[in-house]
Amino acid sequence: MKRIILVGYMGSGKTTVGRQLALSLGLSFYDLDWYIEMRFRRTIEQIFKEKGEEGFRTIEFNMLREVAEFEDIVLSCGGGTPCFGDNMDYINSKGETIYLQAAPEVLAAHLRMGKVVRPLIQGKNDEELLQYIRQSLAEREPYYLQAKHTLDVSLLDNHDKIKTTVKLLREILGL
Ligand code: S3P
Repeated sequence: MKRIILVGYMGSGKTTVGRQLALSLGLSFYDLDWYIEMRFRRTIEQIFKEKGEEGFRTIEFNMLREVAEFEDIVLSCGGGTPCFGDNMDYINSKGETIYLQAAPEVLAAHLRMGKVVRPLIQGKNDEELLQYIRQSLAEREPYYLQAKHTLDVSLLDNHDKIKTTVKLLREILGL
């Protein structure tokens, strides 16, 4: 039984890389945000609007414990997932965990191109976004770094780099 769990900041490529890694290993892919949206028939944006961040974190906590029971999966967490409650300990207890690490400038560039609405960074200009990332990444990184493996994905921005990243992840995991 294999369970591989990806953590990292918004825009680090967890979903893109996770999907390709699952494909290459013949595992099922789950994205925690998508799972929440499916289970609640609401977008993440709507959940934040209706229940606030605290309400979202409670849902996220519960849904993590549902989806992380599935076997033979790659699971991409939300950027905040490891940083609330004892989620990071829980994640580490469920399988191989990998932190996709990237520099604030790289994350900002990815997030500016992103199509998904991310309530925490909505409406920020370039300067504010970079500032916000620097500050919250500093707070969050101690949690991310508790993952069993870390891979720097700062160079991940085209198809070949995704392939390379998947190859590197498979090497790290010995799979
Ligand atoms: C969040 C990250 C998002 C999503 C929500 C909150 C965060 O996931 O869970 O908007 O706190 O960093 P992604 O990292 O997949 O964007």
